[in-house]
This record gives sequence, C-alpha cells and structure tokens, in this order.
Amino acid sequence: MLIDSYGRTVDYLRVSVTERCNFRCQYCMPEKPFSWVPRENLLSFEDLFKFIKISIDAGVKKIRITGGEPLLRENLDTFVRMIHTYNPTVDLAMTTNAFLLKSAAQKLYDAGLRRINVSIDSLIPSVAEKIAKKDVLSHVLEGIEEALSVGLLVKVNMVPMKGVNDNEILDVLEYCKARAMSVRFIEYMENVHANVDIRGMQSHELLSIIGSRYRYSDEGFDGHSPSHYYRLDDGYAFGIIEPHKDDFCTKCNRIRLTAEGNLIPCLYFDEAMSIRDAIRAGNIDEAALVLREVIRTKPEKNRWSDPDGELSKRAFYETGG
Ligand code: 5AD
Ligand code: SF4
Repeated sequence: MLIDSYGRTVDYLRVSVTERCNFRCQYCMPEKPFSWVPRENLLSFEDLFKFIKISIDAGVKKIRITGGEPLLRENLDTFVRMIHTYNPTVDLAMTTNAFLLKSAAQKLYDAGLRRINVSIDSLIPSVAEKIAKKDVLSHVLEGIEEALSVGLLVKVNMVPMKGVNDNEILDVLEYCKARAMSVRFIEYMENVHANVDIRGMQSHELLSIIGSRYRYSDEGFDGHSPSHYYRLDDGYAFGIIEPHKDDFCTKCNRIRLTAEGNLIPCLYFDEAMSIRDAIRAGNIDEAALVLREVIRTKPEKNRWSDPDGELSKRAFYETGG
C-alpha cells in the first residue's frame, strides 16, 4: 500500500501519454504559440507500462489515461490492452476531448476501456469554438454518441466561466441528463497558462442557477471522488468539483505521471521527480524508490483556497487536469 505523510492511501495513478493537444482551451493553454517537449523525451508505451506495473504491484487500483489529448498518440488501444491484460481488476478510465473519439471508441472498448470523461463547455458551436479555439462541437458530440453506443460509460466535465458559458449550465445539465450521463461542473482553477480574463464560478453560484429550475438535495461525497454530488428530485445526480474549498484535499488519493516520466504529487505545485532514466535503464528498484519518495512528499493541500496565494504554475495540458 502507498500511504502518504498525512495518512492518505494513494491508489489512483493518472498517466498522461502526451502533453500535445488539438484544442487550445482558454482555461488550459496559452494563445500564443509555444513549443512542445521534444518527442525523444516521451516515454514509450512499453516504458510507461513498466512504471504502471510497479504502481499496480505497490497498490494502485485505478488508472486514468490523460493528456494533453491522449487520442493524439497512435495505437492507444494497444496501451489500454497492455494495462487491462496485466490486471483486469484495475479500474481503467480515460479523459479525452472526444474530437477523435468516433473512430476510436469501439477499439478502446474492445481493448478493455470501460469509462471515459469528456468535456462539453458549450452546446453552441461558436461558443465551443471560442473556448477551444477550433470548430469542435460537432465532432465532440458525434464522438460522445459513438462512445455511448459502443457501451462506454461517459461522464461530462464543464468548466463554467462568467460571460462565456454561464448561460448554458442548465442546457449542458439537460443534455447530459437526457443521455443518462453524469455531469460535473469544475470550478475554474487559476493557473499561469490560462487566458488572464477568465472569471470562474464557485459552487454556490452554480447551485443558485441550477436551483432556479430544479429542486436538489445535497448527497455529499462518494468515496474518493473529488465531486460533491447533488441529486435532482427525479433522481438524476450531478457533481461539482470544488478545489477552492478548504477541505478539498483531505481525501486526495492520486498522483500523476507525465508523458516525459515526471511523477507529480500534487496538481497545484511544481514539484516533481523523474522516473524516466530509471525506467529507460530498466532499473525497476530505483523507479519504485522514486514512487515511494513522491508519495512521502505529497503536500497536504493545494493553495486554490488562499485568496493571496500564487497562481498554479503547473500546466493542465501536461497533467491532464
Ligand atoms: N480549471 C478547471 N478545469 C480544468 N480542466 C483543464 N484545465 C482546467 C482549469 N484551469 C479540466 C477540463 C477538462 C479536463 C481535462 O480538465 O474540464 O475536461
Ligand atoms: Fe482543452 Fe484538455 Fe486540450 Fe487542455 S488538454 S486544451 S483542457 S482539450
């Protein structure tokens, strides 16, 4: 078992397979051109898998494949199959922007993937384009429909922003409700890479909009999920992810591995330790030691609740959020 200095059991590993992305979401990426890490720095699927095996053997029970956009990496289904075959009881999920999902969904399902998270920040094509800096909506919605039809369980993320998509909160909720997909509204997490003009929304503001049309009850938290759940009178449950709340981190069970082999104890902070050289050299013991050290140094909590705190310098496209 992996237990950190605050007594939290870490059993969830998020693995970014690429930092590259075909979107430029304004809450995640800078508008000006920037350079990606060189391809030779990326770990191969075989090397990522070596570390995944170490983690599973050490107690990891849940793995999420993230990016950037993970479907930009060719043959992702092969990677899914490697993990699923090694241990079919591992809860294996992926976060994708769904742009390339239509043609990939069946292959991913056949390889053992069962759950995906996708983003719908707007259902209006021009607004979705303004947010992602690309005409994405029709591809995304087709990708989602295909995922549902092959049997993938789909959860939807929305990042509500004042003056951008705050008038669509009920529309996105209803779109998801009609398809029995759970939706989670994520409070915008301030970071140095995002568009500086973004004004995020906090959970009480979201609830007041939802409460203007629906009655809901507070269902609290479910296991280690960061989502605070609420239930409408008709039984439909939605979530709000509240990283600005002071107790957000008390149940954190996750660490993140980037495509370059940096192991990250907390999304908010810059700190990371590399497993790349150890893994490439086949030095499994050394990589396992780095894993233990990263768990040991996992910070108690993020600083999003601190009004005077610095912005996070960590790029979400590096860690998959
Ligand atoms: N704040 C909140 N959520 C974010 N995501 C990416 N960047 C941010 C941010 N700054 C979320 C998006 C996407 C997921 C990969 O991460 O909702 O669905
Ligand atoms: Fe958008 Fe995700 Fe790409 Fe960031 S990594 S630009 S959130 S699709």
